[in-house]
Amino acid sequence: MRVAILAAVAAAIVLSAAPVPGNSAKAASSDAIPFTSAQATLGAKVYLQSCASCHGTNLHGISGPALVGKTSGIAQQSLVEVYEYVSQQMPQTAPGSLSKAQYASILAFIAQKNGHRPGSLPLTQSVETTDSATIEAHR
Ligand code: HEC
Repeated sequence: MRVAILAAVAAAIVLSAAPVPGNSAKAASSDAIPFTSAQATLGAKVYLQSCASCHGTNLHGISGPALVGKTSGIAQQSLVEVYEYVSQQMPQTAPGSLSKAQYASILAFIAQKNGHRPGSLPLTQSVETTDSATIEAHR
């Protein structure tokens, strides 16, 4: 039951991204990346299937670089930059092989693991308005 195991790991990853108490005003700031918790949950599953073998189940990196934390190469990059790179270059063994919705959900998951909080607006391909928001949440 590989699928069931992956789903359980995905649930654990999502649960470990604890929300920051008393920081709800942040969601409305220009640093916010819009995504729903449903997108992050789907993104965790797709990430485990397509990315975790190289970037690690905890996103700390294995053969590929870490995707969380201040020292990660993507921490100061904008969502747009990372979306374009990932959707064109990743997974490294099959670049561009996922759907736009799957790439968006993975970005939602990565944003959540970097401290961004889910809200009511989904992350879409029209991400121009969030150009200034970096992957690492400023909290
Ligand atoms: C076969 C291994 C492998 C898989 C699978 C893979 N990656 Fe990567 N990834 C790498 C390597 C290696 C690099 C570094 C490439 C370079 O520096 O040229 C990288 C780089 C990246 C970067 C840029 C990191 C930085 O510091 O700039 C991102 C973001 C990324 N990968 C996301 C993903 C996502 C999302 C997936 C799943 C859709 C994925 N990768 C799947 C190996 C992999």
